[in-house]
Amino acid sequence: MLTRPRRNRKSQAIRDLVQETHVTTDDLVFPLFLLESPKGKIEVSSMPGINRLGLDLMLLEIEECLTLGIKAFDIFPVVDERHKDRMATNATVPDFFYLRALREIKKQFPEACIMTDVAMDPYSSDGHDGIVDENGRILNDETLEVLAEMALAQAETGIDIIGPSDMMDGRVGYLREGLDRNGFEEVSIMSYTAKYASAFYGPFRDALDSAPKSGDKKTYQMNPANRQEARIEADLDTAEGADFLMVKPALSYLDVIKQIKEEYSLPLAAYNVSGEYAMVAAAAEKGWLDKRAIMNEMLLSIKRAGADIILTYFAKEFALNAKK
Ligand code: PBG
Repeated sequence: MLTRPRRNRKSQAIRDLVQETHVTTDDLVFPLFLLESPKGKIEVSSMPGINRLGLDLMLLEIEECLTLGIKAFDIFPVVDERHKDRMATNATVPDFFYLRALREIKKQFPEACIMTDVAMDPYSSDGHDGIVDENGRILNDETLEVLAEMALAQAETGIDIIGPSDMMDGRVGYLREGLDRNGFEEVSIMSYTAKYASAFYGPFRDALDSAPKSGDKKTYQMNPANRQEARIEADLDTAEGADFLMVKPALSYLDVIKQIKEEYSLPLAAYNVSGEYAMVAAAAEKGWLDKRAIMNEMLLSIKRAGADIILTYFAKEFALNAKK
């Protein structure tokens, strides 16, 4: 035998030399759920280890994560049912707790990269990402106006990246124009480019209590069977001025991540979603899987497939682990 691949695996030092893919805290974005009550702390029952936090505790959490090397956060509001309506009005009220909290977070941690979500669902009494008409249809173009106002209200707080997760047609260009017209040329857009209609979002909808009241999201989120269609979305997002593309979920869509990475030049993010976290956390609680080892292997697989950036609920745990 001339070639013995095992020679390059014979010690940790050699394995480290030939390791092709690395995950570091530089790659990670930590999604956080914000409660209205400043001192609130409520665990997400379907995501053991993940808490919804009020502003006071979230500031402490961000501070701790920054010391661990996590520099980017994606913040979602948990909106009380009585503050929801058909038009997601509170998404644009400057005094609403979410926008107030964003201002405070940026004031205290100007160096942190803060990302926000643009979609109507957390504030919508229908639990959909767009406006629902009397026949249950999701209105595309009318929704764009709401999204653009939402993006402006968020940009005004000083945040760094807007994340349109709604999957309405034309929204990246519409948001870009609206932001630029109002002097927010520096606010970035990380587009949820290929966002699939996935059952893996279940625990997130528990966290926000944002599940659709009727119907599903299949007329706007993509069919999990389709890979070619991701190109149509990536072409549009690129042409409309996105700064980052994203594939979501991550683990069942590694082929899509690989394809988009190979065919497009924009930085690519993958969202390691709530259900992907929940499966591991639940199995670990039962003692069936080693949570840390699985976390590392999963994050590595997402990176190896081609993601430059990973949004993941494991971010803090990964950072704590990396410190040791
Ligand atoms: C809102 C939104 C969702 C997620 C991120 N933004 C849920 C959905 O589209 O129903 C899911 C994130 C996760 O599951 O971790 N549009």
